Amino acid sequence: MNNTEDIMILAIESSCDDTSCAVLKNTVVLSNVTANQSIHEQYGGVIPELASRDHEKNMLPVIDAALKNAKVSLADLNAIAVTRGPGLSGSLLVGLSTAKSLSLALGIPLIEVNHMQGHILAHFIREQLPLAQKAATEQAVPSFPFLCLTVSGGHTQIVKVTAPLEFELLAETEDDAVGEAFDKAAKILGLPYPGGPLIDRNARSGNANAYRFPMPKLPGYNYSFSGVKTAFLYFIREQTARNPDFVHEHLPDICASYQAHLINYLLKNLEAVSAETGIRQIAIAGGVSANSALRAQLSELGRKRGWQTFIPAFQYCTDNAAMIGITAYYKFLAGEFCDLNVVPLARYSL
Ligand code: KG4
Ligand code: ZN
Repeated sequence: MNNTEDIMILAIESSCDDTSCAVLKNTVVLSNVTANQSIHEQYGGVIPELASRDHEKNMLPVIDAALKNAKVSLADLNAIAVTRGPGLSGSLLVGLSTAKSLSLALGIPLIEVNHMQGHILAHFIREQLPLAQKAATEQAVPSFPFLCLTVSGGHTQIVKVTAPLEFELLAETEDDAVGEAFDKAAKILGLPYPGGPLIDRNARSGNANAYRFPMPKLPGYNYSFSGVKTAFLYFIREQTARNPDFVHEHLPDICASYQAHLINYLLKNLEAVSAETGIRQIAIAGGVSANSALRAQLSELGRKRGWQTFIPAFQYCTDNAAMIGITAYYKFLAGEFCDLNVVPLARYSL
């Protein structure tokens, strides 16, 4: 039986190539179902038109599965949440149209969510656990203000979070995102898309000091990854000209060295922003925060610098609707609902 004070939200995420739906009761996730699209693997990147078509196919089955897993019916819902952007317009449109239809048909409010805010607020998602287990496993959440290094396929940002819905962008990439730097290097190595997880896996048995790459030098704390990516391309070209089997023979060392380089660069600026702001509550979020070396190195750096570090559970690093649901929960409390004429935003600043 639902407590009348509880807020039950159905959330939809379709900004890129994952179709996801979650049901949350307040901050507790009751279900989170995601359909991944394998069709893009062969192209080395996401093809927007194919992504939209797959969202159309997957959307209703994913919503059905999320409701079923949560043991919740449409009549129990208090609001519909949806990603408005940033992302691919066609993909966003599928989620947004579905969310609008549900909101209209059920006569409940619509809440639009910024995907990047969602990645950050994923830290506040709680799991549904039996009471006895709850106390023992309750995870610490960041206290305000905290810094979040958000690293995904489209973004690289250092954000100061002063309240659940108050974000200040302190640094960002001036060109490619770090996820792209992973994926493009993987493509050069002949690995399928998305290559980030495969670089991570291959790096585990490699020597991170085998090869060196140039460290970008930008004034301030912003990032740049396009030069590193080009340096990697030239490095592989040069080596394979000398030895056509270079990649095959040295894959773990190549992955480990390149990955370590990207992580050192990410953490160097994060450390500088922490020193500048005096903030020692440090979180990471986004697809690249699933990277095992980044997770390990952040924890180690945190111990050295006296930070309290926050690393999301794996299922909430890459795109998922639970993070959209938790953001919508805070927006519900703040009374931030939107009209049915809301349009997708391919670019949507924090
Ligand atoms: O947040 P996300 O799922 O989608 C966007 O909002 O972009 O991030 C996807 C990115 C991809 O670039 C993918 O290669 C990267 O996250 N990624 C990883 C790992 N898992 C996902 N990169 C490095 N190591 C991983 N384990
Ligand atoms: Zn994302």
